[in-house]
Amino acid sequence: MIENLPFLSGWQKYQLAFRNIEGWIHPFTAMIIFSLARFQTSEHFYGNMAELGVHHGKSFLPIYFALGANEIAIAIDVFEEQQYNLNKSGGGNRYKLNNIERYAGDCMRLRIYPKKFPGDNGS
Ligand SMILES: C[S@@+](CC[C@H](N)C(=O)[O-])C[C@H]1O[C@@H](n2cnc3c(N)ncnc32)[C@H](O)[C@@H]1O
Repeated sequence: MIENLPFLSGWQKYQLAFRNIEGWIHPFTAMIIFSLARFQTSEHFYGNMAELGVHHGKSFLPIYFALGANEIAIAIDVFEEQQYNLNKSGGGNRYKLNNIERYAGDCMRLRIYPKKFPGDNGS
């Protein structure tokens, strides 16, 4: 299993496993997200990151891999409350977010936010 190979970075494991992770992101787009986020860090531009509609984490993982020191990544989804997924695009599943631990090796900097967007108060 790729995720158990200790000499590979999380990003390398993710790339090797890419076709087996369910989701919608194109591999080139994943690479751009990862590179851009790393570039921002190299330019001393810091901050936490979030994705709205994480599904199984396929596009969230490049964000997670690119986190700088002391940054966190917030995964937002309606998850099991699929009645709020009005266009039925995908289907978030918080248990499938174990992809984060599986490929990143930890989920210490993961915060899961089970909410619909926009919220009932419009936020
Ligand atoms: C097309 S999938 C996202 C694909 C994901 N970004 C990827 O690359 O694999 C859309 C996700 O948005 C979630 N979603 C739909 N409507 C939402 C809403 N109003 N608020 C929060 N999440 C929502 C769904 O549960 C689903 O997981």
